[in-house]
Amino acid sequence: MNRREFLASTAAMAAAPAVGAVSAQKLRLAPARLHLVGEANPSTEVWAYNGAVPGPELRFRQGERLRIEVENALGVDSTVHWHGVRLPHAMDGVPHLTQPPIRAHGGRFTYEFDLPDAGTYWYHPHLGSAEQVGRGLYGALIVEEREAPKVDRDLAWVLSDWRLDRQARLAENFANAMDASHAGRIGNTVTVNGAIRETFAVRAGERIRLRLVNASNARIYGLRFEGHETWVIALDGQPVEPHAATRVVLGPGMRADLILDCRGAPGSAHRVIDDFYRNRAYELLKIQYSAAQALRERFDKVPTLPANPVARPDVARAHRHRIVFGGGAMGVMPSQREHRGLFWTVNGRPLAEHHHDHGDTPLLTLARGNSYVLELVNETAWHHPIHLHGHVFAIVSRNGEASARMEWGDTVLLDPESRAEIAFVADNPGDWMLHCHVLEHQASGMMAVLRVA
Ligand code: C2O
Ligand code: CU
Repeated sequence: MNRREFLASTAAMAAAPAVGAVSAQKLRLAPARLHLVGEANPSTEVWAYNGAVPGPELRFRQGERLRIEVENALGVDSTVHWHGVRLPHAMDGVPHLTQPPIRAHGGRFTYEFDLPDAGTYWYHPHLGSAEQVGRGLYGALIVEEREAPKVDRDLAWVLSDWRLDRQARLAENFANAMDASHAGRIGNTVTVNGAIRETFAVRAGERIRLRLVNASNARIYGLRFEGHETWVIALDGQPVEPHAATRVVLGPGMRADLILDCRGAPGSAHRVIDDFYRNRAYELLKIQYSAAQALRERFDKVPTLPANPVARPDVARAHRHRIVFGGGAMGVMPSQREHRGLFWTVNGRPLAEHHHDHGDTPLLTLARGNSYVLELVNETAWHHPIHLHGHVFAIVSRNGEASARMEWGDTVLLDPESRAEIAFVADNPGDWMLHCHVLEHQASGMMAVLRVA
């Protein structure tokens, strides 16, 4: 290489998006080694998009068109699902239902679709998800409002957990029967944006928009920001009337946008605690204030985000269906003679990921354009975050009690032995997954297909 070629190639390198940059228009799946538990400790072999966990934070503006070329350099097939985005069926990333798998060892697929809604979304594989997400394949997809509210910083915390041994190696027992029939694979190491964090640095007087994404296979978070008032402005990407929350609960797949006003004193530190599981509280990290004097003394009113163009269901005249989730340890599990390794049911029947007949047997067929209320009934002793593809729904009630405020989402967390009603307009044609986002539950029967025709 002569000097000119060298200069040309370094210029090209400088122009290429760095790993983790916002402008990546390509996603390449490949193994990588990353320091999840600190540089001083051994690294961990993971599977990654563009060499990073989480994968690159993709940022677009509402109304823009996303176009991303995916190359699969893993030794297993994969797909990319754009969780929460209302997109055309062919772009939904569900193998055999919406597209053929992206083959191992170099398969490619280009995703291209418009982004109708602003909000915080994420992407992940929808094939062998328990293993593929568990090994590190996920990233945030952020769609900014046309006129975003003014904040000093807008950033995402992608939360995930890992089951590591003492050498920081991943336990290989993905989707084992014990995890699958109980609470799922809950790890022993929680990371924020791919690493254990001691602190999150802030400056007094800052207003931060914090986008939380729960990318864990199974762990539910209940976050408390000590010494701070946290205002929730969006759930699952959809605007909600701003309200203060003392604890932000996020099941797998769910997101929350918070406004964090840094009212602490310069130099002070405040813990962020996750105490979702009883007697298992731990400190996620500390919010560490720099010594710098406050940027401002008074904060503007917490902004209300503009609504997305989601059709409002006519709840009074909607068609109604009841969907019962059953099975699991301490419940009535499918017969292991007929349904080996399937522990969960939807309306009495388990659906296996490797049955490629999803599309032939929808649980329900919904008439396009009509409003529906689905009563989701959890008859099990376990939590289930139930996720619907292709649509955004309103959570109308929980356990028979009307919701306090209009709450939209794509995933609703059902407590053990509880129920919720969701309402939506079936306005997106195709066969759409409805499943538990505890990925071990999904893999062992807790999924179904809704057809909109
Ligand atoms: Cu986030 Cu069907 O998935
Ligand atoms: Cu579940």
